[in-house]
Amino acid sequence: MRFVKNEVNTTPIEDTVFVIVEKAAKAKAQYGKDKVVDATIGSLYDESGKLVAFDSVFTPYNEIPKEIKAKYAGSFTGNKSYRDQVANWLLGSINSTLTHSVIATPGGTGAVNITISECLDQGETVVLPQIAWGSYQLMATMANLKTKTYSLFEDDHFNMKDFKQTCHEVMAQQKKLVVVINDPCHNPTGYSLTEAEWKEVICFLNECGKQMPVVLLNDIAYIDYSYDIIHSRDYMEQFNAISENVIIVIAFSCSKSLTSYGLRCGAALIMGQNAEDVRNVEVVFEKAARATWSNIANAAMDNFTYVTTDHLATYNKEKASYVELLKQRSDIFTSEAKEAGLPCYPYKEGFFVTIRMDNNEQRDRYHQALMDELIFTVKVNQGIRVAVCSLSVSDCKGLAKRMKTILDHCQ
Ligand SMILES: Cc1ncc(COP(=O)(O)O)c(C=O)c1O
Repeated sequence: MRFVKNEVNTTPIEDTVFVIVEKAAKAKAQYGKDKVVDATIGSLYDESGKLVAFDSVFTPYNEIPKEIKAKYAGSFTGNKSYRDQVANWLLGSINSTLTHSVIATPGGTGAVNITISECLDQGETVVLPQIAWGSYQLMATMANLKTKTYSLFEDDHFNMKDFKQTCHEVMAQQKKLVVVINDPCHNPTGYSLTEAEWKEVICFLNECGKQMPVVLLNDIAYIDYSYDIIHSRDYMEQFNAISENVIIVIAFSCSKSLTSYGLRCGAALIMGQNAEDVRNVEVVFEKAARATWSNIANAAMDNFTYVTTDHLATYNKEKASYVELLKQRSDIFTSEAKEAGLPCYPYKEGFFVTIRMDNNEQRDRYHQALMDELIFTVKVNQGIRVAVCSLSVSDCKGLAKRMKTILDHCQ
């Protein structure tokens, strides 16, 4: 390891998803597709098992002249039309009174990463959900940050008590608070906070803001799959109440919203009461952007703008049909799980349902037992993730009952 910097964690990434995806593929080849339930893939698939790539997104994309695809972006912060349209896409349906600025990023990953790495100094602690997308932890590690996690649920609702307690513990040790909330459609549980819960979060962060600067990173990667899409941004109106000592960064991703995971396009929407504070964050984010990815694919940004303006009705119709499909699949799984007594975290909407596991040893045994029965899932902290986004309706039927029987046998 003498060729890389000393202050870096050199343990290889354990890609828990990819290994199981491969096992599932092998099982399909050996036993036939019909015998295998592959609930590993975290992208939207159609009923015939094909990756969904919206026509309303890729038809306009394919019509973009090659010179536009070849060209650099208009600026390191992104094309102006894209930046304006991201703000409009997220805030256009509500009355937001905050000052804001948009920085184009490579997917939601780029937005989450610049926030985590540019808002805290080495050795400081970022507050994360206990059950979460694995990249948060990796980003923190790469930035030489520590992490502290809050328990997500108390009974079937957001664990406000533990969230507050965790923030207090971190505040006792440092002079800035950075917290991540992945909402709505939390990955991997499918929980979405209620407006009342959001209100309490904001009220609490304002209290914290009396002691130190606070950054709330709201990762909204799956927001466009909210079942009540019209009201999916309403909670952001609660953000109007933040104090001058609180900044919110919304991490937006075109990956899921447009089924364009590979085009690597997203944005960080910085929001605050004070234009100067927002500008200061923007300056640092812009420099980080320029130093790491330089600029975002010009055609990917332009295409988001075309699709969500000129082709909006077609896009909305196409996406709505898949949101409906996702709802059908998750309804089947969660209602059958309830009937069978298979314990799930409180799912409301989104790509994944997660089986609740009290300890990770039991989870490991269960995960293996499921694979022995040709049901492939992904292990998450204290849970087993079932990707309803890529399971067909017929695969969903009867699955929860089978999983419960397997669970009963491996207790
Ligand atoms: C919770 C969450 N946030 C952010 C992302 C970012 O994805 P991308 O970088 O493709 O936009 C993902 C992708 O899986 C995710 O699950």
